[in-house]
Amino acid sequence: MALLEVENLRTYFETDAGLARAVDGVSFAVDEGEVLGIVGESGSGKSVTSLSIMRLVPQPPGRIMPGSRIVFRGRDLLAATEAEMRRVRGNDIAIIFQEPMTSLNPVYSVGDQIAEAIRHHRGVGKREARARAVELLRQVGIPDPERRAEDYPHQLSGGMRQRVMIAMAISCEPDLLIADEPTTALDVTIQAQILDLLAELRERLGMAMILITHDLGVVAQVCDRVVVMYAGQVVEQASVDDLFREPRHPYTEGLLQAIPRLGRPVERLAVIPGTVPSPTAWPVACRFHPRCPYGWDLCVEAAPELFPAGDGRATAEGSVSGDGRASDESGSASDGHASRENRASRCWLERHPERREEVRRRTGAYEASRAGHAEAPAERWHATSAAEHAAPGAETAPPDAPVRPLMGDPDTEEDVRR
Ligand SMILES: Nc1ncnc2c1ncn2[C@@H]1O[C@H](COP(=O)(O)OP(=O)(O)O)[C@@H](O)[C@H]1O
Ligand code: SF4
Ligand SMILES: [Mg+2]
Repeated sequence: MALLEVENLRTYFETDAGLARAVDGVSFAVDEGEVLGIVGESGSGKSVTSLSIMRLVPQPPGRIMPGSRIVFRGRDLLAATEAEMRRVRGNDIAIIFQEPMTSLNPVYSVGDQIAEAIRHHRGVGKREARARAVELLRQVGIPDPERRAEDYPHQLSGGMRQRVMIAMAISCEPDLLIADEPTTALDVTIQAQILDLLAELRERLGMAMILITHDLGVVAQVCDRVVVMYAGQVVEQASVDDLFREPRHPYTEGLLQAIPRLGRPVERLAVIPGTVPSPTAWPVACRFHPRCPYGWDLCVEAAPELFPAGDGRATAEGSVSGDGRASDESGSASDGHASRENRASRCWLERHPERREEVRRRTGAYEASRAGHAEAPAERWHATSAAEHAAPGAETAPPDAPVRPLMGDPDTEEDVRR
């Protein structure tokens, strides 16, 4: 059994602009001791996914929709009471954020803050907690930890503050550490040091990690497996090796093209044209179609599933989970069941491989964006048919789900039909 299973997670927000479907049917699993990367541009739903796991989504305006499942060590976190969740947050799952200054209390020394967390969760005496806090600061590579423990957060550099946050996170020896862009605010050298530290702690403590980042370079350094998110959905999942060897989803390919590499001049880096759309109006059918150099009319007519992908490996069929849930849920039936050993890609190219070859031959796919002009053939089709009123401008939102308390028995909840 996986340590953490996320199944058909949908977290929506009521906003002035309408219902924002920030996370829209996300499924993945994390095994004991494994490091899973979640990667995607800003706005793709990564942070909302991690906040949902911790049940820290502000509610309202946020809502985790019925039919979503988050199961940790066999326990359904969406059915847990708030008191149970506090214990989970303290002892089982820890989270660190991009900007440690917002998570640290400015009026207490860092040593006191760590010691307080230890006392709270471990029930040990003041003195022992203090000694353990200093030891933790040493473990996360803070020089002269006895003295540094007396410092206040503002007296430390960004890198040191992130080390303090990591010390606090591992103080309760969690089974799972969620690190949400832990190095994004840091300069490159410090970033590398923090990643080394996370990799070392993972080895030493054997904890599993979810490393959230917009940077595939970070994924390559630390992760075993990757989930690529775009527009609130998982668009590709693969082992790190497979993903870098052969990205299957055009979005992943675009992200990879944008990483500077040795032997390639920087000005030749491709960018993915356009921007992440708004979660209140996802593009119709394939949500990536307005930016995709491979798209064609099928991509704006029908939404691709998360298809098994890659070179004739085991398919998603046969990996259906034992309880048979979700098999009758329209639209997402295959999503929850693509086994995590398998590669999967939410793209019609998995069913029409000849199109991939043809576009590469004809336009070089992302070559055009290197040269500074965007190519998105599916969007051209869509714009034409939308102008003739033959196609909707954006995906219409699903019918509103009945409001239910999260403590309700999820098994009796009906998923929203889409
Ligand atoms: N409290 C909120 N209210 C309304 N919308 C939100 C809220 N939090 C997040 N969102 C929306 O959810 C979408 C996904 O955000 P997020 O998960 O933070 O993306 P990422 O971490 O991948 O950059 C964004 O469009 C964001 O505006
Ligand atoms: S080829 Fe089509 S389905 Fe695949 S990502 Fe591009 S637009 Fe989407
Ligand atoms: Mg984020």
